[in-house]
Amino acid sequence: MSRVISAHSVSVDGCLTGRDPGAGRGLGDAPMLFDWYFDGDTPSRVFDGFKLSAPSARVFDALAGRVGASLAGRRTYDDSGWIDGGTPHPDAPLVVLSHRPVPGMTDGRQTLVTTGIEDAVAAARALAGDRDVAVMGGCAATAALAAGLVDEVILHQVPILLGAGRPFFLSLPEHVRLRLVEVVPAPGVTHLHYEVVR
Ligand SMILES: NC(=O)c1ccc[n+]([C@@H]2O[C@H](COP(=O)([O-])OP(=O)(O)OC[C@H]3O[C@@H](n4cnc5c(N)ncnc54)[C@H](OP(=O)(O)O)[C@@H]3O)[C@@H](O)[C@H]2O)c1
Repeated sequence: MSRVISAHSVSVDGCLTGRDPGAGRGLGDAPMLFDWYFDGDTPSRVFDGFKLSAPSARVFDALAGRVGASLAGRRTYDDSGWIDGGTPHPDAPLVVLSHRPVPGMTDGRQTLVTTGIEDAVAAARALAGDRDVAVMGGCAATAALAAGLVDEVILHQVPILLGAGRPFFLSLPEHVRLRLVEVVPAPGVTHLHYEVVR
């Protein structure tokens, strides 16, 4: 069965955006969370235009190569401007999790689910086939964790304290134990790869 992974670029103080993110404003005042995608000499084999350091390219491409479908929370969808088409992964369709309709959603690679995280993950699994599902957005990832649906958590930790921004994890009803699988220090980022212990 395919696995569900949650990977985000995050600050040391727990944010996946800075202040005032939004459509056209990206991550708000924290664009540096994505600098490591472009600060090296090694082209990504999966994402055109990404040039990473060698250790980051190895980590990034290994993860990106596993993804058969993405699942994003509504705020990630809105803030990223994907309403006009577009998906976070070049080869994978997108499932959007929301409580409400998305007027004008026309891109054939986008599927809206309004009936909860279980249905959203099931839809993404069906689209992913034997590949994996990548859950994006702090609320969506937390909902998936709370439902026991996440197998792996990856934090691409950028050495900065942002002071404010959207948190990458919200409150959970109980502890989620993690086992550290790999730590890869790289220029401008440390890749922390955990497996959820069941
Ligand atoms: N640094 C990174 O790597 C990274 C990665 C991804 C995203 N981001 C950024 O993170 C921000 C968004 O993260 P976020 O945590 O604020 O929001 P999010 O998880 O993307 O979206 C939250 C929204 O998703 C819907 N949702 C969440 N759980 C649901 C559930 N169980 N059932 C139904 N709908 C549910 C709700 O939408 P409604 O109630 O409105 O319908 C909720 O308000 C964006 O600015 C995005 O650009 C950063």
